[in-house]
Amino acid sequence: MANKKLLSLAFSLLLSFTSAFSPIFLNCGSSISTTISSDNPSRTFTPDEGYLLSPSNSKIASDSSSSSLPSIYSTARIFDSPSSYRFEVDPNAFYILRLHFLAFPSTSAALFNVSALDRYLLLSSTSLSFSSPSIKEFLLWVDTSPLHLTFSPAPNSNSQQIALINALELISSPANILKNIQPTYITENQNFPLDNFVPKAMETVYRINVGGPRITPVNDTLWRTWEPDDSFVFNLALSLNNFTSTQQIKYPTENGLNSTVAPEMVYSTARTLDTTAIADGMANVNFNLTWSFNASPNFQYFIRMHFCNNWFPSLPTFFFEVYLNGFSAKKDLNPGRQTNWNMMVPFYLDFVVDSPSSGGPLNVSIGPASNSNPINAMLNGLEIMKLNNSFLSLVGPFGLVQTDNNNHGKSHLVLILIPSVLGGLLLFLLFLVLGTYRRRKQPKSPKEQKETTPESWTQYNIEPKTDVSVLRASSNFTNPDSPRLKLGLHISFTDIAFATSNFDEKLVIGSGGFGKVYKGVLRDGTKVAIKRSMPGNRQGYPEFQTEIVVLSRIRHRHLVSLIGYCEEQSEMILVYEYMEKGSLKNYLYGFDLPCLSWKQRLEVCIGAARGLQYLHTAYAQSIIHRDVKSTNILLDENFAAKVSDFGLSRLGPSLGETHVSTAVKGTFGYLDPEYFKIQKLTDKSDIYSFGVVLFEVLCARPAIDDYVNLAELALNCQRQGQLEKIIDPKLVGKINENSLRKFAETAAKCLADYGVDRPSIGNVLWNLEYALQLQETQLRREPFEDSGTVDVSEIAVATVRRSPSSSRLKIEVEEDEGIAGTTREFSEMTTRMVFSQLVTGDGR
Ligand SMILES: *[C@@H]1O[C@H](CO)[C@@H](O)[C@H](O)[C@H]1NC(C)=O
Ligand SMILES: *[C@@H]1O[C@H](CO)[C@@H](O)[C@H](O)[C@H]1NC(C)=O
Ligand SMILES: *[C@@H]1O[C@H](CO)[C@@H](O)[C@H](O)[C@H]1NC(C)=O
Ligand SMILES: *[C@@H]1O[C@H](CO)[C@@H](O)[C@H](O)[C@H]1NC(C)=O
Ligand SMILES: *[C@@H]1O[C@H](CO)[C@@H](O)[C@H](O)[C@H]1NC(C)=O
Ligand SMILES: *[C@@H]1O[C@H](CO)[C@@H](O)[C@H](O)[C@H]1NC(C)=O
Ligand SMILES: *[C@@H]1O[C@H](CO)[C@@H](O)[C@H](O)[C@H]1NC(C)=O
Repeated sequence: MANKKLLSLAFSLLLSFTSAFSPIFLNCGSSISTTISSDNPSRTFTPDEGYLLSPSNSKIASDSSSSSLPSIYSTARIFDSPSSYRFEVDPNAFYILRLHFLAFPSTSAALFNVSALDRYLLLSSTSLSFSSPSIKEFLLWVDTSPLHLTFSPAPNSNSQQIALINALELISSPANILKNIQPTYITENQNFPLDNFVPKAMETVYRINVGGPRITPVNDTLWRTWEPDDSFVFNLALSLNNFTSTQQIKYPTENGLNSTVAPEMVYSTARTLDTTAIADGMANVNFNLTWSFNASPNFQYFIRMHFCNNWFPSLPTFFFEVYLNGFSAKKDLNPGRQTNWNMMVPFYLDFVVDSPSSGGPLNVSIGPASNSNPINAMLNGLEIMKLNNSFLSLVGPFGLVQTDNNNHGKSHLVLILIPSVLGGLLLFLLFLVLGTYRRRKQPKSPKEQKETTPESWTQYNIEPKTDVSVLRASSNFTNPDSPRLKLGLHISFTDIAFATSNFDEKLVIGSGGFGKVYKGVLRDGTKVAIKRSMPGNRQGYPEFQTEIVVLSRIRHRHLVSLIGYCEEQSEMILVYEYMEKGSLKNYLYGFDLPCLSWKQRLEVCIGAARGLQYLHTAYAQSIIHRDVKSTNILLDENFAAKVSDFGLSRLGPSLGETHVSTAVKGTFGYLDPEYFKIQKLTDKSDIYSFGVVLFEVLCARPAIDDYVNLAELALNCQRQGQLEKIIDPKLVGKINENSLRKFAETAAKCLADYGVDRPSIGNVLWNLEYALQLQETQLRREPFEDSGTVDVSEIAVATVRRSPSSSRLKIEVEEDEGIAGTTREFSEMTTRMVFSQLVTGDGR
């Protein structure tokens, strides 16, 4: 049966994604393997011919004059026309790509570019020294298989230019190195966390064992080299590099930091300030220790700073400052606090900075904090990676696709598009067939279907009538010739440039992997938030289109709405309603904003829950947000909450991708552990994340703070009856005890290990409203509530009984007046639904 075939195809697709990738080491241009046995584990470089796309296009060269070098450098593969290696990989993962180059007398004319994935310009040979081995390392987010690595000799009619490569390494990057990272973007005025940051192509430009010796591949399980830092230290004489700890480093493996991130040797040595220099009068008490690195102008750099709590370990009074390019990157960094006061435990901090606009070096500085005792600072290790620019290049302000107008360039474009169109279509068909298959096989009532344990395909359970058309439309989106959507939401680029004073940097209110968000005012005076993708980058095009189609259909008072979009020239711009007060998170911690009262916080939670309720229940099958967190709950001028960024851009585009890379979606600290484990997504995953938000609101703490997971912390305190220990100090004494109990119980239920044990969003909403009522009316708890469990049916009855003249139902409907008709109907409908469920007792 065709259905069966498709099912087994789906399973084999799934299987192929889970098989492990073994590293590939190629001894290019050689017909024999060579093993570097001193490495631990050892590396065997095998002949490369089998990986060439068209072997006949290439030649080999060898030179054994420098016999002191490893034998991988005695042969090379030579190309005199554009040629590629082709690697079968497991997509949706990071890969480490290392290229080794050495020119022989016979190959000195080498002048070429190297690109990867038919998209990223990695390297131009002009940056290679060639007189000694050059090793270039890249980290690539690989979203398709096979991976193409292309060598393009300079097109030159006069003399024959060539490309060459001596050896190549392709290693799957262990998941703990780059997954779920949340670097802080450091700018002159303000620093902000980059949520969902997925670097696409990076070049490792510096990897430094600060204050320690060179670490060679012999002592690094990923065969990395860590250079000593002496030559980069600006004020060498004011520093000491003789700090070495002899005790064993204790990796805090629960957060994924193990020796694969950086070997022990990195953490056991450090450079520190030489405070005796102060005593000697060589410096005043306050001086910074600075490392300076070459940086290419107009690139962003990802910087990982490694530290260890092994110097003045766990001393609460020892802290220091971190600066990047002279901008404060981390204030009062206390190694003890960062490691939960566990000695010998390493940690690292991730940052993103722009290269200095002056064109000068990139500076990393540490310096004393004014109240620290002792006055000092330390750094153990440093990694600096260059991030691809909007031209998808690591070389300069040009790239493969955009600048190529000839046929060669077009063929690249087609290479990218065809697999994605086919993949999209295939999965779309799969989805359709599976959808019908399930419906035929399971003639259960829709309710039952929703309540049973989710199946792996439930994430595609979108109501056919409304959303299949969305999907159908979105599968067209990968086709660049499809006619522009005519939704009446189009805004011209000139209007958007006008609204943002030509994208004035002063109006930037947010930034992320996608690009920047600007505050703007349209010609008609409407205040808007304008999300602009990096100009020239068309990678996110299908998501952009889907977001438009889907968002334009969804309107709700508690969901941020789409006002328009622009896709002129190479721009992808989305225009949303402006939310005056910004994100909920900013009102909880990290900024000096006025403290929200408990009542205000409850109202915000209730608003957000209403928004989620709409997503979960407005359509026959729920829309799952997948990234519920305090940064995605925005507040308008009256502090009314609206849910934003509804993960909807992920519904349509590449169904296959969403399934495969489910673990990547969402934000660390908010991720449903069940979803994480078994990769099955249901609306209960949103409930989990919302539970984390509820505790964030109560405790005014981030979901992950210094490696402490708020969900775990709160559940522990809750179990031990010690919640008051972690409650926002500003709320202590201001929350009605019963309101607090109701709220905390509800939040804890949301965090149940298994989705089936978590309440529905309707249930959460009722409980929050009840908590609000308890706060407002100082309602005395009835004896039945002391059962300790949340029983909404009783609450509902109690509530109605208490205020017969204004039942909740009525209040709800009144509140929802004034919005679009469909929405109101919906609100009435669900309110009634929820209400009747509650009263009849089958609400759970
Ligand atoms: C490398 O690629 C860039 C952009 O396509 C191009 O301008 C440059 O000439 C190329 N260099 C070589 C050596 O092929
Ligand atoms: C470190 O963790 C990664 C990913 O969890 C794993 O692949 C690797 O084997 C671990 N390394 C060590 C030395 O345990
Ligand atoms: C580095 O590796 C070599 C060879 O395995 C070993 O003898 C040496 O002790 C290692 N150095 C450190 C600091 O671990
Ligand atoms: C570290 O080096 C400084 C200056 O070279 C020296 O005065 C000090 O004694 C050294 N400390 C240790 C522990 O070797
Ligand atoms: C980097 O540090 C050097 C040495 O301290 C200094 O001269 C230079 O101005 C700094 N540059 C920036 C951009 O901070
Ligand atoms: C350290 O550098 C930062 C950034 O450039 C600067 O603001 C601070 O004043 C410096 N501290 C000292 C003591 O020079
Ligand atoms: C890097 O490339 C990706 C496309 O894969 C793009 O989305 C991103 O915007 C680029 N980075 C920058 C800084 O432009």
